[in-house]
Amino acid sequence: MSEKSLAEEVFEIVRNHHAFRGSSLNLIASENITSKEVRKLLTCDMGHRYAVGFLYERMYRGCEYIDKLEELTQFLARKLFRVEHVNTLPISGTVANLVAIGAFTRPGDTMMGLSVMDGGHSSFREVSRYHGVSMVPLPFNAEEYNIDVDQSRKMIAKVMPKMVMLGASEILFPQPVKEISEAAANVGSITVYDGAHVLGLIAGDNFQDPLREGAAVITGSTHKTFFGPQGGIILCKRQYGDAIDKVALSMINNHHINRVAALAYTLAEFLAFGREYARNVVANAQALAESLYNNGLDVICANKGFTKSHQVIFRVKEGAAMEVSKNLERAGIITSMTPLPTDKSETMASGIRLGVQEITRLGMGREEMDQIGRLIAKVVKDPDSVETVREEVRKLASRFIKIHYTFNDNENAYDWY
Ligand SMILES: Cc1ncc(COP(=O)(O)O)c(C=O)c1O
Repeated sequence: MSEKSLAEEVFEIVRNHHAFRGSSLNLIASENITSKEVRKLLTCDMGHRYAVGFLYERMYRGCEYIDKLEELTQFLARKLFRVEHVNTLPISGTVANLVAIGAFTRPGDTMMGLSVMDGGHSSFREVSRYHGVSMVPLPFNAEEYNIDVDQSRKMIAKVMPKMVMLGASEILFPQPVKEISEAAANVGSITVYDGAHVLGLIAGDNFQDPLREGAAVITGSTHKTFFGPQGGIILCKRQYGDAIDKVALSMINNHHINRVAALAYTLAEFLAFGREYARNVVANAQALAESLYNNGLDVICANKGFTKSHQVIFRVKEGAAMEVSKNLERAGIITSMTPLPTDKSETMASGIRLGVQEITRLGMGREEMDQIGRLIAKVVKDPDSVETVREEVRKLASRFIKIHYTFNDNENAYDWY
């Protein structure tokens, strides 16, 4: 094969991906879809440039418009999140955690955060490990599917960590930020809230308000419930800004400025539409959970109303989650498996995690959640139904192709060149 045909194959693969995704339902809880304008900004010339150094004090020349862009981005982020200080250098949520852990701990220190089995993200464990910080798990109440406040208070007093990391990858309910940050403050520990998953719900004022509940810093991804470009962000009170900026600047040489332009546009989208979007995301998650439950699936936290976030989790047989997610994928329903606190190990997962933020952005509502719940239950109970469900998914997906909660988008969400 010639180099040219190999190069053309790249396009072929990407086109096929678009056709596949456009005919499927994406229920991955950590993804979303961006507006056409955001995608346009991602292809701009700023993606070829560097802007090393602080705003207006760059080591490279040529940054006049980049400085203007970053000033506007910070203004929009401060306004949206009602926060004093913003850092948009992190190119992902993991990098945002790397910066926060680097800013507030030293090798040899201890930090606390949820374990992966209890919904914590692997970056809590891995970043702390690479930084020489030991990570002690925060106690978790599996029935409440939330941090165990009493046990955590005791543990924090005993361990006296330098930092407590709140937030999680599997997150159904607001966390006890006030109680934990008070316990942390009693031993001189700083509280950071990893809002990677729920940043869009926080921005839309429909989950919890970590900074006003006691957290000093929020880290996050900008592409999960927050429907922006893939990237990271750090929001904090003024007194922590210098520590964050210093570490971020020393670790991140190249921060993908086209991403910052796309992020700025998304911040404006959120200022205009964020509340309505976040309200609809949570309502859809609750509607989907109800439908799954009414169709006979073991949706967790039924006694607590299932969820207050974008996520819904249901339990299958221990160790069977991978196979179930593969059957769902064959039916065009894209999900991910997740370990539950009661599973023996991460690989013996029994949880399927769903997120409704992307299908909400495409304009789906209660009726579609009822239908999707029925289709998922059908595949789980009868894998032989995959082909018939695939057809129904195709039809449903073809009716919801426009991106909502943006200024002027009316093209097919999954079209590409
Ligand atoms: C709680 C949490 N923090 C951090 C991350 C990492 O985010 P990113 O993929 O942007 O690095 C994730 C990823 O899903 C997450 O769930």
